[in-house]
Amino acid sequence: MSTKLLQDKVAIVTGAGRGLGEAIARAYADEGAKVIVSDIDAAAAQRVADSLPGASAVACDVRVPEQVEALVAAAVKQHGRLDIMVPNAGVATLSPLAATSYEQWREVTSVNLDGVFLCIRYAAPALVAAGGGAIITMASVTAKAACALIGSYAAAKAGVVSLTQTAATELRAHNIRVNAILPAFIETDLVKAHKKEFEQMLGIPDFDAVVAQRQGRYGTAAEVANLAVFLASGRSSFSNGSGFVLDGGVSSSLL
Ligand SMILES: NC(=O)c1ccc[n+]([C@@H]2O[C@H](COP(=O)([O-])OP(=O)(O)OC[C@H]3O[C@@H](n4cnc5c(N)ncnc54)[C@H](O)[C@@H]3O)[C@@H](O)[C@H]2O)c1
Repeated sequence: MSTKLLQDKVAIVTGAGRGLGEAIARAYADEGAKVIVSDIDAAAAQRVADSLPGASAVACDVRVPEQVEALVAAAVKQHGRLDIMVPNAGVATLSPLAATSYEQWREVTSVNLDGVFLCIRYAAPALVAAGGGAIITMASVTAKAACALIGSYAAAKAGVVSLTQTAATELRAHNIRVNAILPAFIETDLVKAHKKEFEQMLGIPDFDAVVAQRQGRYGTAAEVANLAVFLASGRSSFSNGSGFVLDGGVSSSLL
């Protein structure tokens, strides 16, 4: 008998062409899942899917309702069911609130909040039809504590925590658990792309040194993926509607 935690489970991971989504897709495949690797970047999704047993790629922009609906339909068409949805895709732009344009606000919230709503909205009926399952959303510690320059992002992530709680409440009767992961800084392209901007706009000489001082070190994608496996598996059977903080202790310590 297999001891793999997600043997034959069908999982969609959005934003899985790189970064945390790719790490989660790899960890799910390692645990026996059939992963639909999805990303707005079709080539990146294909590259990841090609390297994983039982995986396939489906391009999807999570801002577009029809594309998210088609993503779920593709998973069900291919495998006959959906067991796990991970709305992971996210973007960030840096700007103080008082200088943020409406277009910048929508650019961030449309992916990070609307996209998560759409993934839950279209995955839920398929998970119900499968007799149950799990949704793991990707929030952030910025849902709980401010980080200058990313107010739109933080507001979207706080919305993700709220959506997670409502979905957990509404879907519990269908044997569907919904939990959020709230990481601090994990060293991915998303963070690397913005280090210099943080330094320049906040007058910080060395962003890496501030991260090391505040959270000890960067978290790793593998640490996020480990939690995502736990939350997708029966090992977390009594966890529902919760936000799991992964931050080296930064959000619970003053000095
Ligand atoms: N890296 C961190 O420190 C950190 C911390 C907390 C939360 N997060 C969250 O984790 C998630 C993944 O972050 P990451 O660091 O891996 O980022 P990343 O930039 O490395 O990867 C994000 C992926 O999402 C895809 N994407 C962007 N817009 C999309 C869209 N509209 N539709 C579908 N896919 C889209 C990109 O093509 C990319 O492959 C995000 O939701 C992010 O907010 C990251």
